[in-house]
Amino acid sequence: MAEGKLVLFAPAPYRWLRDELTKLLAMGHRELFYHSHDHKKVLTWRRIQNVDVTWGAGQEAFQKKSPVERLLQINDAAAELTRILYEQPLTAASVAKGEAIAADMIRCIKEDPGSVAAIGKLARHDDYTYYHSARVAAYSLAIAVSMSVRSDEKLRSIALGCLFHDVGKSRISLAVLHKPGALSPEEWDLMRRHPAFGIELVEATPAPVFDRVAREIILHHHEKPDGRGYPHGISGAEIVMEVRIASFADMFDALTTARRYQVSRNRYEALDFIRHKLLPGVDADVYKAVVELFSKPGGTG
Ligand SMILES: [Fe+2]
Ligand SMILES: [Fe+2]
Repeated sequence: MAEGKLVLFAPAPYRWLRDELTKLLAMGHRELFYHSHDHKKVLTWRRIQNVDVTWGAGQEAFQKKSPVERLLQINDAAAELTRILYEQPLTAASVAKGEAIAADMIRCIKEDPGSVAAIGKLARHDDYTYYHSARVAAYSLAIAVSMSVRSDEKLRSIALGCLFHDVGKSRISLAVLHKPGALSPEEWDLMRRHPAFGIELVEATPAPVFDRVAREIILHHHEKPDGRGYPHGISGAEIVMEVRIASFADMFDALTTARRYQVSRNRYEALDFIRHKLLPGVDADVYKAVVELFSKPGGTG
């Protein structure tokens, strides 16, 4: 709104860029109207941007919800955070949002590890880029809790490492990231550099929250126990357990989400595929923990 008049800036759906908002402010616009059915999206955006809403504002109502409902809401916030990471430079503020999301996610998963099944059911290819990291974090936490990791410090490193594991892809164009066909050798080379790009981005940000384990996850989540991964081709015990968990979750999410070039499998088909086709390249203990996680009654659907 400017000088008492309503001005249509953009038709819905519309993704705002920070520059546009800055320009609107400079032009004297102080109020923004949106359709009431977009209210949930706006709240999520404001939480992420820390405009004036925090998890704390609705904390009581939020905590009364079931772990599944809470996890779905956290998942939306984490996806929004990932979208921001693709569009804006990595800042200490976005890392702080990641920490808040990680803390809420840990509380949920500790309460009910099986609640992760709910987020898999919603997986759709059009959201893949933004929701993938959120799901990888949630799956990894559920696997870690199933493998008796109880330390909040360790769970926090896993959650943060996973939420930011693909942050290096923000340096790769969407044309390459979303390319439906096969990648050229040059494009593959570029894709394989995203773990190193991720570490560079994290190191350029004054963010001591990324401890050794979180950094290992960002750098090594494409390494394989049989040494056929990248970027360093390390193997076996050289890959720390938290990284093996994250890399399993990463692959599991890719297998269970439909994308333009791939049909999705349900989680049982995915586990079957992993057992028959991928097992030497997958950690056997993590595999067992996942089978156990999804065979428990309740929450897993
Ligand atoms: Fe990755
Ligand atoms: Fe990934």
